[in-house]
Amino acid sequence: MATERTLSILKPDATRRNLTGKINAVFEEAGLRIVAQKRIKLSDEQAGAFYAVHKERPFYGSLVASMTSEPVVVQVLEGEGAVAKNREVMGATNPAQAADGTIRKLFAESIEANSVHGSDSLENAAIEIAFFFAQTEILP
Ligand code: PPS
Repeated sequence: MATERTLSILKPDATRRNLTGKINAVFEEAGLRIVAQKRIKLSDEQAGAFYAVHKERPFYGSLVASMTSEPVVVQVLEGEGAVAKNREVMGATNPAQAADGTIRKLFAESIEANSVHGSDSLENAAIEIAFFFAQTEILP
């Protein structure tokens, strides 16, 4: 399988509860390398643009408000089949449906405060990585 990169976000519910190390340990134990990482506070404009694909969905305003409520940690994860592997270790969007041992089963509070975001395809991963990182900030 090819080496890939994917964009990960540790959401405000995770930073608020000081869970970033525990979540990063799950990534690393799954063979994903954190090759870029920064803690930032998203502006309304940034979060709105990042989630623009969901603009027509009823939860859009609430999701943007939640993502701007506290700092987030944005990351680039690298590894074999990183996009699918990250989705697997994150678990289902709704923690009530997430498999045992997944990040969302272990840590998520709700479908909105679900601790992590991960790109859903290789194509979107490239777009989402470029949204937050310059190439020079990614250090394999
Ligand atoms: S997915 O993985 O894109 O198919 O998941 P999806 O169900 O489309 O959800 C996309 C993001 O929207 C958030 N979400 C919600 N927020 C608030 N309320 C409700 N009901 C809700 N449903 C979904 C969910 O946390 C996803 O955020 P990200 O950051 O993309 O994981």
